Amino acid sequence: MSDDTLLSGRSLVTGAAGFIGTALAKALLARGGEVTVADVRPVAIDHPNARHVVVDVTDRDRLAEQIGGHRAVFHLASNTENRPGHASRWIDFDVTAGGAVALLEALTQSPPAVTVLASSQLVYGDGVGAADELSTPLRPATAFAAAKAAAEAFLCSYAHRTGTRAVCCRLANVIGPGFGRGVVADLATRLRDEPGRLRVLGDGRQRRSFVHVDDCVSALLCAALGAGPGFTALNVSNLDSLTIAEVAKLIGDCSVHGAPEIEFAGGAAWHGDATALFPDAGRLLRLGWKPLHSSSEAVRATAQGILSPRGR
Ligand SMILES: NC(=O)c1ccc[n+]([C@@H]2O[C@H](COP(=O)([O-])OP(=O)(O)OC[C@H]3O[C@@H](n4cnc5c(N)ncnc54)[C@H](O)[C@@H]3O)[C@@H](O)[C@H]2O)c1
Repeated sequence: MSDDTLLSGRSLVTGAAGFIGTALAKALLARGGEVTVADVRPVAIDHPNARHVVVDVTDRDRLAEQIGGHRAVFHLASNTENRPGHASRWIDFDVTAGGAVALLEALTQSPPAVTVLASSQLVYGDGVGAADELSTPLRPATAFAAAKAAAEAFLCSYAHRTGTRAVCCRLANVIGPGFGRGVVADLATRLRDEPGRLRVLGDGRQRRSFVHVDDCVSALLCAALGAGPGFTALNVSNLDSLTIAEVAKLIGDCSVHGAPEIEFAGGAAWHGDATALFPDAGRLLRLGWKPLHSSSEAVRATAQGILSPRGR
């Protein structure tokens, strides 16, 4: 660990109104840090050490005014819609890539000791099987993934320019109570709305690693503390993985109406979906990260939040 006091100083979290950003900001506050929570929407954190900044990360002037003086920066603000037809390439270009460049430019004047970017496993593309940070080439298959790869490249050049530590964390599927996107939320919502039947897109054989949001937060903190000098890429994925058929079964078992009939539509779920991608988290594990929840536990926690009467 480079500096145990790093995260009890001033930190900045962008995308702090989001699912991971809120959990991360709360974790930093719980460590006694002062946290600037920045987002284009208001952040639902009420804490004396939280400083609220409403900012669009593409607004270079406002960023330059608002984000100086932090020891650690976690950049999570991004477009988070990856499905073609649901997102626009320009949003990926403007917000995910452009927002990262704007933030890094603003940080350059007085760089923090460490800058962490929330990237995605999808930078590797599909069909690559086991992916590791040092030998697997980046072949993004969607505009979302291409913009993440671009943001990583700018982060790397920023690390060289400033001589500071910079880490991109390539997140697998991060889920947990309250998460409303992606395959688990989609299937649980379908089952809640139509108990007894669960229709699954694709053939159910796609395999994914699911990370509980609390483990994702501990991974981001571990990356900030433990990554070495210069630029580092780290996979954040679980030790295990599940097929979508296994996910559907786990979700069905959470239903209070009994196990549903599960149907598979067949073929690929959608263009750009990663069917065979297994990022290896070995580098992060060697830095001391230890996930506390299996993929199954993360799926159950997410589904139960949607299927319980309170999740309606
Ligand atoms: N959840 C996952 O499975 C997962 C997987 C891979 C990568 N990631 C990455 O982790 C980060 C956080 O993801 P999340 O699941 O919490 O998503 P989220 O959608 O809940 O949070 C993203 C936040 O970014 C904010 N934002 C968007 N555009 C902005 C802008 N122009 N200016 C300022 N703020 C803006 C949103 O308001 C939102 O609060 C993202 O960068 C995402 O791409 C998440």
